[in-house]
Amino acid sequence: MGNYGSPGLLNDTLQEKSIFKSQSFFVLSQIKPNSVFMEENKKEGRYSRIYNQLSELVLKSNSPVARMATIIAVLHHKMETFFWTGFYILENGEMIVQMYQGPVACQVLEKNKGVCWAAFNQKNAVVVEDVHLFPGHIACDSRSNSEIVVPLKNREGEIIGVLDVDSKEKANFDAVDVKWLERILELIYA
Ligand code: SME
Repeated sequence: MGNYGSPGLLNDTLQEKSIFKSQSFFVLSQIKPNSVFMEENKKEGRYSRIYNQLSELVLKSNSPVARMATIIAVLHHKMETFFWTGFYILENGEMIVQMYQGPVACQVLEKNKGVCWAAFNQKNAVVVEDVHLFPGHIACDSRSNSEIVVPLKNREGEIIGVLDVDSKEKANFDAVDVKWLERILELIYA
């Protein structure tokens, strides 16, 4: 079982449910209807084009900050269901917002609470189909309904923060997003 941030706040049932939810995209991939496969193919194609574009763009500087900002701008404008797209980085034990696009967000996230801290503590991507069901979810904007958080590793392989994307759509994110966003984050320190 992964560390879910504030396990003291969760009863066993909720904790089990949220952990299942965070991994449910792997289970559901066995039983998808054709329409879901078509949507995924479209998403694959779009991420593939974005990845190729970003691979070229990051070569223009060695600055991780410039690369992170570029990644956020491209993702936010090319992925039409991305409502908030940004980074939170650990600074002196606090999770602090960095560059982002979308509505004004929380600058500091309460320690060991919410989806960003869950992904950071678990050292794994977390996909939340319905943020309103995630115990301790931090709502910076009430219009967000689903969320994906992917850990960011530095050149030494240490997790230094997370990429966070919110969507107004429920269940907007799945294993395809996890796969491509992890690949895209690898470009920052490449
Ligand atoms: N929902 C996040 C907080 C950051 S905002 O979504 C921009 C969380 O629960 O950690």
